[in-house]
Amino acid sequence: MKKRRVPGIEILSDEDLKLMRKAGLVVARALREMTSNVRVGMTTHEVDAIAVDVLAREGATSSFLGYEPMKGIPPYPGVTCLSVNEEVVHGLPSERVLAEGDLLSIDFGAMIEGVHGDAARSVGIGDLASDVEKLNIDTEKSLWAGISAARLGGKIGDISSAIERSLRNAGKYGIVRGYTGHGIGHQMHQPPDIPNYGSRGKGPIIEQGLCMAIEPMATLGTSNTDILDDDWTVVTTDGSVGAHWENTITVTKFGIWVLTEEDGGEETLHRLGLPFGPLSD
Ligand code: MF3
Ligand code: CO
Repeated sequence: MKKRRVPGIEILSDEDLKLMRKAGLVVARALREMTSNVRVGMTTHEVDAIAVDVLAREGATSSFLGYEPMKGIPPYPGVTCLSVNEEVVHGLPSERVLAEGDLLSIDFGAMIEGVHGDAARSVGIGDLASDVEKLNIDTEKSLWAGISAARLGGKIGDISSAIERSLRNAGKYGIVRGYTGHGIGHQMHQPPDIPNYGSRGKGPIIEQGLCMAIEPMATLGTSNTDILDDDWTVVTTDGSVGAHWENTITVTKFGIWVLTEEDGGEETLHRLGLPFGPLSD
């Protein structure tokens, strides 16, 4: 049982969802190891090396290394995307040294038994300026607002609109256009697109077996981005700081299952009064 009803949208079997959970757990553990060890004075290359170790230990492979989104773009050179300050997403691991007050977005994807997990956290290096700290907290909240809007029989637009509303109510932020969340499963990027703005009740239906990478990107200024000469790094056109949070989720008949949180999202979902929906093994 794979594709049905909406062309291009993959509906995963319960068996496959359990593999998605395995991949998601690798991603969650790697992100925790990176966010808890990153320090002032480290290079982003050293952060990437932490994730390389986790992949080896877990027997997983990178979803990002060698990824080629289209002809003419060089294959992705790391296992993480590490985006500092005005870099919003897709920053390349480098010899750049992290400094006090930097906002570092860590995006990581892992594949195990043919399926992918994809998630991102933004983390302050030392103390953040208060506006940057608030941007980061509000972007994470908007991720959970989007997750909270997912229900069987609902629409992708319910998630998009919840993210947009959450960010607009929280502050005067730029909501990045041009990049979206996405379906995920046997490929890291697959239909449907999940924009970070939109209308409730619009878009493809959320069915059991659909896995979604939800990933708000917000800035202290513009919604517009450029790509640097390295063909990858996405920066704000006005140099304002951007934050990025992402989780891979699915919705079962029991509730929401956050595949890329170590506890499956149980604690946060419980706090938000939402049903937690893991499949038992
Ligand atoms: N994790 C990114 C996303 O959320 C994709 C990274 S692009 C890659 O869609 F080239 F690094 F893989
Ligand atoms: Co993604």
